[in-house]
Amino acid sequence: MSTNPYRLPRSAIPRRYDMRLEPDLASSTFGGTEQIALEVVEPVDSITLNCLEIEITSATLRHGGGAATGTVSYDEPMQRATIAFAETVPAGDATLDLEFTGILNDQLHGFYRSTFTDVDGVEQAIATTQFEATDARRAFPCFDEPDMKAVFGVTLVVPEDLMAVSNGAEVERWSEPDGRVAVRFADTMVMSTYLVAFVVGPFEASETVDVDGVPLRVIAPRGKGHLMPFALGCGEFCLRYLRDYYGIPYPGDKVDMVAIPDFAFGAMENLGCITYRETALLVDPERATQAELLRILDVVAHELAHMWFGDLVTMKWWDGIWLNEAFATFMEMKCTDARRPDWKRWLAFSAMERPWAYGVDALASSRPVEFEVTSPDEANEMFDALTYGKGSSVLRMIEQYLGEEVFRDGVGRYLRRHAYGNTVTGDLWEGLDEASGIDVGRIMDSWILQEGYPQVEVTRVDGGIRLDQRRYLATPDETDQTLWHIPALIRGESEGRPFEVKALVSDPTVTIPVDGPIDWVLVNAGGHGFYRVSYSEELTTPLRAVLDRLDDNERFALVNDAWAFVESGQSSAAAYLELASAYRHEEEQSIWQSVLAGLGAIRHHIVGDEDLDAFRKLSGELLRPSYEALGWERQDGDSDLRRRLRGSILSAMGRLVDDPAVIDRSRQVAGRWLQDPAGLDPDVAQASLFTMASHGDDADYDRVFACYRDNPDPQAKLKLLQAITRFDGSDFADRTIAAVRDGRIRSQDGSWVVSLLFGGRDSGAHAWRELRRDWEALTALMPPMTMRRLMDGLPALSHPEVAADIEAFFAETPVPVAQKAVHQNVERMRVNATLREREAGAFSGFLRERSG
Ligand code: BES
Ligand code: ZN
Repeated sequence: MSTNPYRLPRSAIPRRYDMRLEPDLASSTFGGTEQIALEVVEPVDSITLNCLEIEITSATLRHGGGAATGTVSYDEPMQRATIAFAETVPAGDATLDLEFTGILNDQLHGFYRSTFTDVDGVEQAIATTQFEATDARRAFPCFDEPDMKAVFGVTLVVPEDLMAVSNGAEVERWSEPDGRVAVRFADTMVMSTYLVAFVVGPFEASETVDVDGVPLRVIAPRGKGHLMPFALGCGEFCLRYLRDYYGIPYPGDKVDMVAIPDFAFGAMENLGCITYRETALLVDPERATQAELLRILDVVAHELAHMWFGDLVTMKWWDGIWLNEAFATFMEMKCTDARRPDWKRWLAFSAMERPWAYGVDALASSRPVEFEVTSPDEANEMFDALTYGKGSSVLRMIEQYLGEEVFRDGVGRYLRRHAYGNTVTGDLWEGLDEASGIDVGRIMDSWILQEGYPQVEVTRVDGGIRLDQRRYLATPDETDQTLWHIPALIRGESEGRPFEVKALVSDPTVTIPVDGPIDWVLVNAGGHGFYRVSYSEELTTPLRAVLDRLDDNERFALVNDAWAFVESGQSSAAAYLELASAYRHEEEQSIWQSVLAGLGAIRHHIVGDEDLDAFRKLSGELLRPSYEALGWERQDGDSDLRRRLRGSILSAMGRLVDDPAVIDRSRQVAGRWLQDPAGLDPDVAQASLFTMASHGDDADYDRVFACYRDNPDPQAKLKLLQAITRFDGSDFADRTIAAVRDGRIRSQDGSWVVSLLFGGRDSGAHAWRELRRDWEALTALMPPMTMRRLMDGLPALSHPEVAADIEAFFAETPVPVAQKAVHQNVERMRVNATLREREAGAFSGFLRERSG
């Protein structure tokens, strides 16, 4: 610890903060006072704490021997203030009294300003906070490290007509001499600074639901009350589910879920005062797609899961942030799956979170899940695919291996033992070791402490099957010797009799004995493992013949792995299409999502303009049975997922196959939806909107943009914004970038919008050149914590000249808040460029042969 210059000395430890904050929305500033009760561990003549963009106007230390006036000095690069005293302060209890002023910034971090236009067309301002990872220090001077937990007693002084919310329940309010109101909130539990929150603005609250003694509300900007009930229902369910799962009461005194118009991420788990991006909380269920409703249920579940895992028990330092985020993501699945089993969340997990992690962890520029963190920028960079996606995937893998009840038991032990405290990764393994009686840490270290993941090659040998493990890399490296402890589940049939084997595969080569002949065998049974599986020819054919005997997740893994082998050059795009066509009668939306992603990548990265027609024809043949079965109209007995699948297939018919009849009808449906969404199926409408945009002209762009600008529904606004990025052409890209520039597109969305523009077949390279040309000005508009999303768009740019230009640019342009993301996305872009080079010729030949 002492070697990290960013860590604070431990000579004074905070026990509680009593603070009073007075935001002034008109001048975008705030004033504050605080008393920090400290335990002075050894005699000191100064105290150092974190402080950034704040001016401390008065500092005094009261201690047993009297009071000492402090002199303040700042160390900006280290984000600190040091308060020096003329005398030495003895060890013991002391109180530091501070007065300070700061700014309500527009960067969506610290104490910041957000705005919205109310139902009367009047612009309204909000003051709100976002502290994780290290921005509490922008709102009040504090010991801003996760293990310096304390109690927070907060008072907010606000204009009478505004609502004020913080972590604890309101306990007292009084009028100040100037007419403002002071609102005092109950003390928090002992917790980390990054979980403190204040929100002030013209909000309205839902009814309060009593969840077995815990008051739960949704809070949103005035005028949005009708969009709250869905999230309120999700919150009520999840709060109960989580309490039962953990076997521990909710640790706070109330839960408010607050929608904020400008927000850097999806949501933030401040204890009892959870903040959300509007689209992650507010919805009209009649007009929303299943994906939109799922997103809200997911985010609500995720943040509530943190109330225990993260808030009650917190990692010691940011190198352990995966404990927080991976576990909350894992619980998000469990909770969502319990509320809506028909939404098959674990299958969707296979289609969303796991492949997200597979993609990054297949790169040489990956990192271990647990990873050294020194600076604030490095802490902020940790919130990525490895922390969330790989972390939750390997938790799911070990849960399935140990058994769900054993796993839950281990988690409960861990939480009870460390309540109100801080932990390291090994503490979780200790709980699981005790519950299971096996050395869980030994297995998990290979997944958490080393980067990458294995590919298991399966071959038939005398008396059984042989498994060979080696690292899967998008760019294979024969010299890589990394090994994992793979908790493998294997199943198959021998002469019509089913068999199952559970084995821990630790060696490079392992033989699994199987008696008798093997009809077929599947490795990674259940599809929960974090590894790819390839089969010898002799095992592949029988497996494909029994696709209908595999469960959803298993069928998923087979086709998802197949695309990974194309990316790494172990298989061809033509071979992938052969397998994909075995899925033409598939009925699961998530599995289609993977098939369509493969087809989309082939079209985008491999197929040249001269072959597009042949590709359209071939993919059209693959999609037609589903298109015909699903049609355009809602059918009796349609499940939500079937309706979603209809949307996916229609969208693919419109944008992958470019079917003229589908484009035509999409234009009609989208046209109607833009006027009035009432009565239209939301999934069909969304697909139509995207197809219409992909093939749209200037007048269409104007209509979509106007509807975006004027729409009061956050979900509609989001899909309209996405549609805006689908118009393909340099002029469209220029117009969209102009809207980012002048604020018609909110700064919270800027980086995402530009990254989506990179995906345009025609406009992608143009959008990149525009960003490069005006890099300083454009990125200055993007709040730092959103920069990663900009980088996520780069892999779409796989034309060799563009890729080379991007590499050259980033070789000399540092991006401190997203440096890893730059390296990873540039590497992925290179992988895609190589895929293009390797496959273009061969695939063109294949298409001509097929259509000839
Ligand atoms: N703790 C995070 C929010 C966060 C992200 C803080 C990055 C600091 C840096 C929160 O719990 C979270 O994970 N939010 C997700 C949504 C979730 C459903 C995956 C987000 O904001 O995307
Ligand atoms: Zn989280």
